[in-house]
Amino acid sequence: MKIKNICCIGAGYVGGPTMAVIAQKCPHINVTVVDINADRIAAWNDEDVSKLPVYEPGLDAVVAEARGRNLFFSTDVDKAIDEAEMIFMSVNTPTKTYGKGKGMAADLKYIELCARQIARVAKDDKIVVEKSTLPVRTASAIKNILDNTGNGNGIKFQILSNPEFLAEGTAIADLMNPDRVLIGGDTTPEGQEAIQALVDVYANWVPEEQILTTNVWSSELSKLTANAFLAQRVSSINAMSELCEKTGADVNEVAKAIGMDSRIGPKFLKASVGFGGSCFQKDILNLVYIAKTYGLDEVADYWEQVIIMNDHQKRRFADNIVSTLYNTVSGKKIAFLGWAFKKDTNDTRESAAIYVADDLLNEQAKVSVYDPKVVAERMYADLDYLNTRTAEENREGLEVCKDSYQACEGAHAIAVLTEWDEFKTYDWKKIYDQMQKPAFVFDGRGILDKEQLKEIGFVYYKIGEGE
Ligand code: NAD
Ligand code: UDX
Repeated sequence: MKIKNICCIGAGYVGGPTMAVIAQKCPHINVTVVDINADRIAAWNDEDVSKLPVYEPGLDAVVAEARGRNLFFSTDVDKAIDEAEMIFMSVNTPTKTYGKGKGMAADLKYIELCARQIARVAKDDKIVVEKSTLPVRTASAIKNILDNTGNGNGIKFQILSNPEFLAEGTAIADLMNPDRVLIGGDTTPEGQEAIQALVDVYANWVPEEQILTTNVWSSELSKLTANAFLAQRVSSINAMSELCEKTGADVNEVAKAIGMDSRIGPKFLKASVGFGGSCFQKDILNLVYIAKTYGLDEVADYWEQVIIMNDHQKRRFADNIVSTLYNTVSGKKIAFLGWAFKKDTNDTRESAAIYVADDLLNEQAKVSVYDPKVVAERMYADLDYLNTRTAEENREGLEVCKDSYQACEGAHAIAVLTEWDEFKTYDWKKIYDQMQKPAFVFDGRGILDKEQLKEIGFVYYKIGEGE
């Protein structure tokens, strides 16, 4: 079966970039990305590609090439479903905030709504692809909905699992050159035919040996497992960072030493103020919930520890600022460099900066933030979402600056929360001259030049480095 029309429901951080790359690499396939959020679709259609709703290096060029040729963004979900032979579901699956599994399980209401809409609209057979990250065995629920809520006219649905492994900030490079593409499907001949149809799409640019096919459950569970392993590495190195600080070891040297062991490998060993992003915490919580559902308490506890460690890392960073500043930050200006959860993205979901700011605001600090890509409304929305204080109090306590030097002017301390490259090239002498003395820097990403800063006169604290 040759695919000529693809529909993707969900024009977010995954749906947008993923479909843009498919469209660019497959000019013979029409790709329509739909969303109920009209503002988001309008931004995807903005003639000025610098205004796309997702910031990713290289995305603007891909969209500029394919948009209007075979890549379309629309709010007409029904029409796109109707016209497509293959439908990707790339909607959000956040942690549940209510009811059973609150704070742990994935909220599948958006996925279910998609499935119901597909069932209602479809007039011919469809391949439905799970692109969202989903709990293992969700495909059976989706199949049930598709088969039983439609108009009952014998339409056949095949469900595939095709989890996305892109990381934000490098999404385009990851999509163009993935380590692997994973496709899970039914073992029946129809299932295998559906798998082959999706393999054929990716084979336009991904070498076939990197396209892995499995059964549906393995594919669904592999996604949660991959994120759990990656997050576990970050929590493991962050746990060592605290021990390094106490013992005089340097976590970067430790990371290098262990990373040269080919069994361990060098990646994902960067100590930090704690991992953020929309995926790690959500997916581990979901894994913990699934394990508990099956009565596997030890398995659940094991993975939960990754989150506990991460929360501790964020909190101890804020605590260290307070204790170093003579046990009070009340009325003191603390400048934040960075608010995004990592560099090269405007995404702030679960960013460590939000939690560190919240702790410091509780201590009555005045926080001033500069981030090259995150807008002020986003930062205030992040804080408001925590419900720790009123919206007015958040706006009073947190100032958002368009200029980094202005954010640091008059500050008692600077905290580096995101590893944006530009922070390394600042005129640190100029910043020092405009700060309160002693001038403190808390480098939560370990990116600044310690010797240079100390020579200027800063009191410099680097995550994971003991005296
Ligand atoms: P997102 O919130 O950026 O985008 C989801 C979009 O889906 C939103 O724009 C929303 O309006 C839209 N939507 C929700 N319900 C809809 C409906 N019924 N009809 C039409 N549109 C609807 O989310 P995201 O970051 O793109 O993540 C999507 C999925 O991909 C999640 O399951 C996530 O776990 C997974 N994932 C994310 C990443 C990442 O780096 N962000 C990486 C891999 C996998
Ligand atoms: C992650 C997975 O990497 C990706 O495969 C999956 O599809 C989605 O979730 P993402 O969250 O976008 O991607 O970014 P990632 O690079 O994994 O970073 C996550 C967080 O961990 C960031 O806050 C980052 O700063 C932090 N991190 C990462 C560290 O603190 N140290 C590291 O060594 C690596």
